[in-house]
Amino acid sequence: MSVFSRYSSFFDPFGEGNVVEDSDVFPKADILSGLHIDAPPPYSTLKSVLNVASAEVIPPRNDSEANGSFPLTYHARTNLEIHGQGTVIANCTGPTSLLFSLLTDNQSKPSLYAVITETSVEFWYGPTAPHGSTGYLPPDRVSIKGNVPNRKPADEASPEEDTELTTMPTTFLRPEMPYTARYWLSIDHKNGILRFGRDYTNLALTLYEATLKVEDQGVGRWIDDNYAFIDNLTTVNVQQKGGSVTAPPLQVVCQPLPVVEKLPPIILPSESITLDQLALGSVTVPANLSAECQRLYATVAGANIELDTPDFPEFSQAIERSVNTEGLLCQKMLKKKTKSDYRNTYLRITLGVDVGNSPGAPYVLEIWPAMHASPIHNHADSHAIIKVLHGKIKAYYFTSLYDARPTGPPSKLEKGDVTWIDPENYQVHQLSNENRDGSVCCTIQSYSYGKDDARHYEAFDYINKETNEFISKFMPNSDMRYDKFKAALKEEWSQRWTQNPKV
Ligand SMILES: [Fe+2]
Repeated sequence: MSVFSRYSSFFDPFGEGNVVEDSDVFPKADILSGLHIDAPPPYSTLKSVLNVASAEVIPPRNDSEANGSFPLTYHARTNLEIHGQGTVIANCTGPTSLLFSLLTDNQSKPSLYAVITETSVEFWYGPTAPHGSTGYLPPDRVSIKGNVPNRKPADEASPEEDTELTTMPTTFLRPEMPYTARYWLSIDHKNGILRFGRDYTNLALTLYEATLKVEDQGVGRWIDDNYAFIDNLTTVNVQQKGGSVTAPPLQVVCQPLPVVEKLPPIILPSESITLDQLALGSVTVPANLSAECQRLYATVAGANIELDTPDFPEFSQAIERSVNTEGLLCQKMLKKKTKSDYRNTYLRITLGVDVGNSPGAPYVLEIWPAMHASPIHNHADSHAIIKVLHGKIKAYYFTSLYDARPTGPPSKLEKGDVTWIDPENYQVHQLSNENRDGSVCCTIQSYSYGKDDARHYEAFDYINKETNEFISKFMPNSDMRYDKFKAALKEEWSQRWTQNPKV
């Protein structure tokens, strides 16, 4: 069974051909060499992020180290804005090991150490490094027990069960990957949780974690008093071993908040959310999202953003008919743009002017015929709001294009539902209209780059089953302008009793 198999609940509209195989996803590192500059998101240098702690190369200490076998070593130092919490992101290429050392301002207090290799993550605490030392790991350090979340041990799975469906990747660093990738460490002293993850900074991408507090009379208590120094951590040292002189050096950024919760994909207006939904964390509200998502939500999520309006109350019916009737406009456009698999096509009807702040047009009416699905793709590190205007669609979410593992069950979206994407959440997805009765789904997608995004990666990358390329770039295009499309559908609908579309 392929390690890239889906959840058993996944309905695969393409059958065999749509299963992501090892060979489809970055099969050979050497194929990617030379792509450093235009690496697909999120594999790029952090040029759009402010306050990057630049790294120094540590020179060999003696002749034997300088004798060719000494790996490149980078070192970066930065501060936690808030004592005892934050997310440290190391952006590095070809690391063979990463050492995170977190210190307090008191030399006599312990330090926290996290050592990451390709196959292991270890958390430790122990004496603080002497001043001026780099890469220090005290010999008398004490191990902090952690675990790999969401992984079911093989001996707990029944023979029929595909255990790989429930696993996350078994490796941690990717020394062979030529892209600059993000590896992150979250320090959460309030909840007493340490987490390590990679690619996108969100809970679903956690690869290893340690829980160091228990609830005691309604408050968290350290399970070992020796962990209390974590409350006072102020400084972070990051050491990368490995890499190449031609690859970008280590970059480190700190975010003030730790990785704690998963924001649900569904958005409700704040006047609709209930206490039960708040307690369950089943939906979120616009105010919890990025400023860019809030702006897009305010633009496309309103009650009057709908297809069927008084001037053309049968617009959605007309689209259904046009998609499902041979010879009519939508089906003709779909067939024209089909390369090899008709079920991989959908229509992009664009609204608004491309002002240079979104991948393609800022607003797109997407039309999804029944049993059609997109490839697994990312979104150019953009922010996005998607509202379902007609029908139903499922959104499947994945870890990254690099290994494309499901991060959980799909969202089942229906007319009126609104969902979101930002540079750290839900970037890699697949939309799939799984209605078997010919029902079409229409969505409005809206996109914006982040205000600090100086890269503007214009393409959506996707896993290309048709050409067997490990990754392809889709340049967001327009099949037709909205005003022209609506007029054409109105005309087509008005002729429905006289038209013989096959003639
Ligand atoms: Fe998408």
